[in-house]
Amino acid sequence: MMKLSPSILSADFSKLGEEIKALDKSGADFIHIDVMDGMFVPNISLGLPVIKSIRPYTNLPFDVHLMIEEPSRYIEEFVNAGADIITVHYEADKHIDRTLNYIKSFGKKAAIALNPGTPVCNIKDLIGLVDMVVIMTVNPGYGGQKFIDYTLDKIKEVKELSKEFNKDLLIEVDGGIASNNIKKVFEAGSNVAVAGSAVFKDGKIEENIKLLKGSIG
Ligand code: DX5
Ligand code: ZN
Repeated sequence: MMKLSPSILSADFSKLGEEIKALDKSGADFIHIDVMDGMFVPNISLGLPVIKSIRPYTNLPFDVHLMIEEPSRYIEEFVNAGADIITVHYEADKHIDRTLNYIKSFGKKAAIALNPGTPVCNIKDLIGLVDMVVIMTVNPGYGGQKFIDYTLDKIKEVKELSKEFNKDLLIEVDGGIASNNIKKVFEAGSNVAVAGSAVFKDGKIEENIKLLKGSIG
C-alpha cells in the first residue's frame, strides 16, 4: 500500500485550517509540513506557531520535514507543536545519530532525509534506527519542481537495505510526484508519497488525491 502525505506548502495559507480539513476528508494518510529556514534551503516557509494552530483541525499524523540547519535545537518545540513524524536532513546535522535518538526519546517517529546528491550508502548504518527514510526526488526548497530521474535507483537501494535491516521502514519520496510517476516510485519500493502541487494545483483536492491513489494500480 502507498500512503499519501500531501504537502501543505502548496496550500492556500490564508485558509489553512479549511485546507487541512479538506485533506482529512479526502483520504490523506499524513499531513506533510515543510519547514524551511532560509539557510539549509534558500526559501523560508512556516514554523512552530502555524503548526500549533492547525493541530486541532485533524487527527492525521503530522509529517514534519525540517529543512533547517542543526535541527536538534528545535526538536522539543516541534514535538510540543504537534509533530508525529520528524524528518531531519543528513546534510544538516553533524550528530545525526544523536538527533534521531533524541526524536525517538519523545516517543515520536524519527526520519532521515537525503538530498538528491547524497548517496544512500551514507545512511546504511542508520536504517535499523529510523522509522522512515525520505528520498528527496527534487532539490529541497520549493514546490512544483521536476522529478529527478536518477533518484529512482536510490529508492531501490533503500528498499534493499530495508529488507535486510528494517522490514517496517517507511520509505517516503518527496518532490515532483504526480499521477504520471507515482506508479514508478511505488514499484521502486517507496510506500509514502508526498505531493504538493499535484494535490493543490486547481483546488480540486479530493479528485487529485483519488487520481494519485488510483494511478498506482
Ligand atoms: C520541497 C518540499 C516538498 C514540496 C513538494 O522542498 O520538501 O515537500 O512541497 O512539492 P511538489 O509535490 O509540488 O514537488
Ligand atoms: Zn517536504
